[in-house]
Amino acid sequence: MKKKVFSALLALAMLAGCSNGGDGGETPADDGAKTYNVGVSIYDYNDNFMTLYRNEIEAYFKTLETDEVKYNVTIVDGKNDMAEQTNQVENFITQGMDVIILNLVQTSSADAVIDKVVAAEIPLVLINREPMGTDGDMSYKGILDNATVCYIGADARQSGTFQGEIVAELPDHGDINGDGKISYIMIEGDPENVDAQYRTEFSIKALTDAGYEVECLADQVGNWKQENGQTICANALAQYGDDIEVVFCNNDAMALGAYAAIEAAGRTVGEDIYLLGVDALAECVEMVENGTMTGTVLNDHIGQSHTAVDVAVKALNGEALDNYYWVDYVKVTK
Ligand code: GAL
Repeated sequence: MKKKVFSALLALAMLAGCSNGGDGGETPADDGAKTYNVGVSIYDYNDNFMTLYRNEIEAYFKTLETDEVKYNVTIVDGKNDMAEQTNQVENFITQGMDVIILNLVQTSSADAVIDKVVAAEIPLVLINREPMGTDGDMSYKGILDNATVCYIGADARQSGTFQGEIVAELPDHGDINGDGKISYIMIEGDPENVDAQYRTEFSIKALTDAGYEVECLADQVGNWKQENGQTICANALAQYGDDIEVVFCNNDAMALGAYAAIEAAGRTVGEDIYLLGVDALAECVEMVENGTMTGTVLNDHIGQSHTAVDVAVKALNGEALDNYYWVDYVKVTK
């Protein structure tokens, strides 16, 4: 008898699973729960920050599972190759994913990808790399014009401003040698990313707006990578030596590389040079604590990944989406 009731319930639950969600590709699991298929493509698995972000996407989806709803999350590595990522998105479409979360390799390819996903009637949640509209941020047509496409990110101007403010708030305001100007080098992320553009611009703007004089000794692209941060910083230290007072890095990975170069050059952070990053990777927060980094800025991967997942779930439930969702940065100093 017991068995019979169970099978009847199971059949009912499966029916509900099939009818609910209509033409979506969600599949009823054996136990009668509804399983949603989620496709995620991350621009590059080698990126430290995006590794934290993607792990949290996976972990957070798990916490939202219930007896009735499961999430079958497939995460793939875009390998920093837009052609590869386009293939992955096409595969997600063929596989009938119910929602796609995408960290674009190239924001300049956003339209091509958005068009494919929208044509397949799959909701699309863009994360971390904001495609820029003609009127700057928050104006991308492909996002504004499509009710099922949205972007989740953090305003990179804020992170740049925080970096500049950390320097301005130092007792010597970054002017270690007292010559009346802050002499710095800038190590930039991928210049196609607005995060790199804004952090580069707004870190310095915070200083000049506060009335400080600045001098840029070197400004080089390190593409978010630790090894590039090290090489760029080592070369700059060899060329400009003690003239360098502040090393601004658009992210912590490059700051870790820069730190290795600073140490190798016999310089001491907090005494004869300052070092700034963004992301607040655990090892960098520790360095800020022990004084080997001047400051960093929390790029809240927990807040962003949870928002991305919550929005994906809204889309799965057929709820209306905003175009843009923002998560704040937080200054990290000792
Ligand atoms: C930034 C982050 C960098 C890198 C980049 C990738 O927001 O600070 O570390 O992950 O995104 O686009």
